[in-house]
Amino acid sequence: MLFDTHAHYDSHQFDRDREEVLAALPGADVALVVNPGCDLPSSRMAVSLAETHSGIYAAVGVHPEDCADWTDAMLDELRALAAHPKVVAIGEIGLDYYWKENPPREFQQHVFRAQMALAQELDLPVIVHDREAHGDSMDIVRDFPEVRGVFHCFSGSAEMAKELVRLGWHISFTGVLTYPNARKAIEAADVIPLDRLMVETDSPYMAPVPFRGRRNWSGYVEHTARRLAEVKGISYEACCRITLENGLRFFRIPAPV
Ligand code: NI
Repeated sequence: MLFDTHAHYDSHQFDRDREEVLAALPGADVALVVNPGCDLPSSRMAVSLAETHSGIYAAVGVHPEDCADWTDAMLDELRALAAHPKVVAIGEIGLDYYWKENPPREFQQHVFRAQMALAQELDLPVIVHDREAHGDSMDIVRDFPEVRGVFHCFSGSAEMAKELVRLGWHISFTGVLTYPNARKAIEAADVIPLDRLMVETDSPYMAPVPFRGRRNWSGYVEHTARRLAEVKGISYEACCRITLENGLRFFRIPAPV
């Protein structure tokens, strides 16, 4: 049984066949999915998918790539959405310095900090997106010592992973772990204790080998779990059980029956 801790089924890439894809999850041994929002409309849709599908939980938040029209008044709607019992985190939030057309760095930092403060107020964990912004992301994490979270699709070093673990954070890996150039991700996975690891697809993006380049879906999370099991020197079955238990504990979700 697998827990895909990060997939975007609100994406327009699933508009044609969303219900069929979601209906196929149990057959692929995927018991649970967390669907994070990237802006207000996608956060609303994440909540409505969680409302209509038992194995789907939602996170609500504004992604750094989508924060250009952010105003602090949006915190009120995020707070209202987060009151839903199936909203388990604030996310995805963070910093993305990769794309030149993204909002200015200082503005992204403001939006990230505002949502970290919301997570602290609501006592919810956060799902962090950090691309080419490791130093500033860590500075903000350290400024909110009461907030716990996960760095999703982790791209930092083994040293950064150790520091996050020391701070009580979790780390999750996508299909990137299966890519031929995954040396850095593997070095990081190697030093993270088993009880801090989670797996995810980031569907519809980041499909693992052998499906790289295709539309991703939670059924492919198996390939990331298999690679992670190899890296950690444990069985695939143990890797599934441990990452599922970690996800349940981290998101405070009851075990599926
Ligand atoms: Ni994502």
